[in-house]
Amino acid sequence: MWGYIYIYKKKKKHFVVPLLVVFQSVVRLWSSAAEGTVAPPADCSITAEQPVLSSQYIISNVLGEKTLECVQRKRLRDTLTDRERERVWELCSKRLTRMPVQYVIEEWDFRDLTLKMKPPVFIPRPETEELVSLVLEDLRSIQEESHTTDLRCLEVGCGSGAISLSLLHGIPQVCTQVFALDQSQTAVCLTMENANRLGLQDRLDVHHLDVIKDADAILSKCDPADFLVSNPPYLLSQDMETLQTEILRLDHSALDGGLNGLSVIRPILALSSKLLTQRGRVYLEVAPCHPPIIQQLIEETRPGLLYLETRCDLTNRSSSSVNVTCPLFC
Ligand SMILES: C[S@@+](CC[C@H](N)C(=O)[O-])C[C@H]1O[C@@H](n2cnc3c(N)ncnc32)[C@H](O)[C@@H]1O
Repeated sequence: MWGYIYIYKKKKKHFVVPLLVVFQSVVRLWSSAAEGTVAPPADCSITAEQPVLSSQYIISNVLGEKTLECVQRKRLRDTLTDRERERVWELCSKRLTRMPVQYVIEEWDFRDLTLKMKPPVFIPRPETEELVSLVLEDLRSIQEESHTTDLRCLEVGCGSGAISLSLLHGIPQVCTQVFALDQSQTAVCLTMENANRLGLQDRLDVHHLDVIKDADAILSKCDPADFLVSNPPYLLSQDMETLQTEILRLDHSALDGGLNGLSVIRPILALSSKLLTQRGRVYLEVAPCHPPIIQQLIEETRPGLLYLETRCDLTNRSSSSVNVTCPLFC
């Protein structure tokens, strides 16, 4: 890894490294490592994917910007300071251990929010941005129809806080309150940290609770709720083995939904039938195989709930939201 810099150093003597050279070096190193022509550093057992994108994020981050396009043209021809150069290589080394780039740069954008990221908390995905848009659309129309801003939302499995904080950001009315819970203490702390950074902490209640084990505690803290939203772990256990190395660095309990992917979805539905208000709705991000199973589950075991619809995400995988309501209930 240091070979490129070393060669350059000898040639230039002063060890000034223009940004583009560093950038190209990182990309070249990655590509060579991916082809197996260059051995990765000793502590990197495997090579990283997407070298160009990762290098761009890392270098932009070191220069205090989100993307390389944001870095001024002039700055791209400048030399890096020693500190910047060291930092680039420090972050690249982490990435070469197959740490996801979001953990390496310690932040990620979700909709219009920049969230702090911390291993092993789940890194929010673009599909979930679509789920949030859908929920916000419905929240706004219910507010308009019922002439109320006093709505209560519950998120199960908040991770970094991406969904809850986007809802609070999108619905600025002071009466809208969000309760968020997660079985992971690290996730709970990260959600609170992100809420504080974004100034959204006043309308957010975060709890360290498990939807499988702590149903009574959840009911006592969060009942009633008008909206329940969740991007639960929904992968089938058998599919965990096929995941990319980077994804396996995430908390497995954020991904693995058990034998049929429903181990967290089932208790969410049970909880929904108890705490949703009459106008209440449930929004779930699920696996492509889940919608018909969930529909059947609701019809057979949750008479208070009514399955409404499934929407596909933009990639056209049928993995988006199952939208459930309980108009007969509460
Ligand atoms: C797929 S991640 C989603 C995180 C975040 N909502 C997002 O979309 O970025 C699932 C989250 O559910 C949490 N979780 C898993 N099982 C849970 C349970 N039984 N009770 C509460 N939270 C759970 C995990 O810790 C993880 O943070």
